[in-house]
Order: sequence, then C-alpha cells, then structure tokens
Amino acid sequence: MISILNSVIIKTITLLPKAIVQLFAGKYVAGESHKTALAVVKSLNDQGLSATIDILGEHVQDITEAKQITSEYIDLYDEIAENQLDCNISIKPSHIGLDLGENQFLDNLQLLIDKAMTYENFLRIDMESSLVTDTTIKAYTQMLKRSKAVGTVFQAYLFRTLDDVKNVQSDHLNFRLCKGIYKESEDISIQDRKHINENYLKILRYAFTANNYVGIATHDIDLLKNIYSLIEELNVSPDKFEFQVLYGVPMSGWIEKHLENRYKVRVYVPFGPDWYNYSIRRLKENPNIAGYVIKNLFR
Ligand code: FDA
Repeated sequence: MISILNSVIIKTITLLPKAIVQLFAGKYVAGESHKTALAVVKSLNDQGLSATIDILGEHVQDITEAKQITSEYIDLYDEIAENQLDCNISIKPSHIGLDLGENQFLDNLQLLIDKAMTYENFLRIDMESSLVTDTTIKAYTQMLKRSKAVGTVFQAYLFRTLDDVKNVQSDHLNFRLCKGIYKESEDISIQDRKHINENYLKILRYAFTANNYVGIATHDIDLLKNIYSLIEELNVSPDKFEFQVLYGVPMSGWIEKHLENRYKVRVYVPFGPDWYNYSIRRLKENPNIAGYVIKNLFR
C-alpha cells in the first residue's frame, strides 16, 4: 500500500512544473550556486554545526565534465578556506569520472585530496550502489596510504559491510556509517528496518572498539537512542565520532541534544544546478524517499 502511494507521489511530482518542485526541494537543497551553498554553511556554523557540501550530480559520461566538476570542488576548498568555514567536501565517485574508468576517477580523486591536504581539510568519498562498492573501497584504501585527509562511507544494509570495515587495515580509518539509500537485491542486502538497525549497531560497536573515527549518519530516533546507550556502555570519547544529518530533515530536538552533550554534528548540504534531475532520478530509484519528503513537509 505504502509503495503504491509513493509511486503516485513520484508520478505527481514529475508532472508538476519545476518551479513548484523547487518550493518543496528548497528545504533540502542549498540553492544552485557556491554563494547560496556557502551562505547555508555559514548559518549552520553560526549555530554550532559543522558541514559537508556536495554538488548534486552523478554518472558523468564525459571526461571534460568530470574534470570541470573536479575543478569546481577545488574552487570550493579555496572558498571554504577564504571564508574560514567549518566545512569539508563529499563527492560521489561517478560524479568525478568513475563511469569513465578507474584511472580517470583516481586522477581526479588525487587532485581533490591534494587540495584538501593543503588546507588541512578533508574529503569524504560517498558510497554509491553495490556495483561500485569494491572499486570505491579499493580507491579509498589506496588514497589512505598517502593521506589521512580522506574518508569513505559504509552502508549497514549490505551483508558484506562488517567484513569490509574489518578489512581496511589502517589506524586512520574514518568512515560515515549510513543505512544505504540504493535499491539493492535481497541476495546481498538486508531488507527490513529492524535487521538493518541491528547490523548498524553491530558495525558501530566494532568500529568503536577498533578505535575508528565514525560519522554516525542517521535520522532514525530509535536507532539514535540505542547509539547513545552504546556510546555510554563503551565510554567512547567524543573525539572518535560525530553525528551527521542531511540538510533540512527534521530531527525532533536531537540536534540540540547532541550539542548539549558536546557531540559534534555535521550537516550534509547538497546544492547545484542539477538538483532537479538528480532528485527525480533518486526518487524513482528509491520510492521510499518520496514518502519521507511528503511526511516531513506536512509536519
Ligand atoms: P530511516 O530511513 O529509518 O529514516 C528515519 C526518518 O528520517 C524517516 O522516517 C524520515 O522522517 C527521515 N528521513 C530519512 N531520510 C530522509 C530524506 N532523504 N528526506 C527526508 N526525510 C528523511 N546513503 C548512501 O547509500 N550513500 C551515502 O554516501 C550516503 N550518505 C549520507 C550522508 C548523510 C549525512 C546521511 C544522513 C545519509 C546518507 N545516506 C547515504 C542516506 C542513508 O543511507 C539513508 O538512506 C537515509 O539517511 C535514511 O536512513 P535513516 O538512517 O535516516 O533512517
């Protein structure tokens, strides 16, 4: 029933004029330009929150475009430094050229990490679908040998993830843990929320005991309650983790709660001219998101 409703929502959204969709999307997307995105980051910083910015887009099929996106990210590092913002950058591998070949991707990735290092900033490699999990982890571990200025993302819904975390041999493992947003088959992924949450906690417990740095990315309040218990049980030092949320998603007072506990909170701020196509593609791929968005809008 819910999936039928979500499909109806998606069909309706794609029929609406772009200007109307923008009214809804504006809550979750920080405009189209560097200027609007950095203004959002500044206002988050003023509220005591860190940020990570992402230019919306994926699956670039043209070398010149992949290079242009990479140089746009390089400019962003300069602008973040000039404006003294507390903000790092998150990129999607396929946005900087992974579909064009591993070498193209690695070259651009290297440029970004070098730039991040010049400012003692940081680059997060987002995790896309399971088709590129191996390549992404391989690229991450390769880059990690040269720099601590890089981290990646692991998805709790994949059966493989705990092993993946264990297999990265580094004292500087720094990853964001999320549930995972892509539609994956039941052969390789956990399908129900309860068991995804159990796996999330299992991976987090391992990471805390292994002294990894974790970006705890979730809006799930039940899961957050269990994460707080785990932090207390293991007496985890606050410099070993941060909480992460998507810009615009309501958190029912939990951001304030994190700040009261002196825990770091980082907001993921997506922006860019491709916001419409990107949002529609992602809605079609995972219709559950449509339900969230509508629910949050009417809260
Ligand atoms: P859950 O799905 O149970 O959602 C809990 C509640 O949060 C929902 O009921 C809803 O109210 C709200 N909510 C969640 N997502 C929402 C959304 N998009 N819009 C509006 N409301 C929403 N995934 C991935 O595969 N690769 C990645 O690199 C990343 N990166 C990433 C960064 C950050 C900072 C976050 C917070 C999330 C991601 N994700 C991601 C997405 C993640 O995998 C997951 O799909 C969503 O966060 C939803 O899962 P929750 O843990 O929030 O729980």
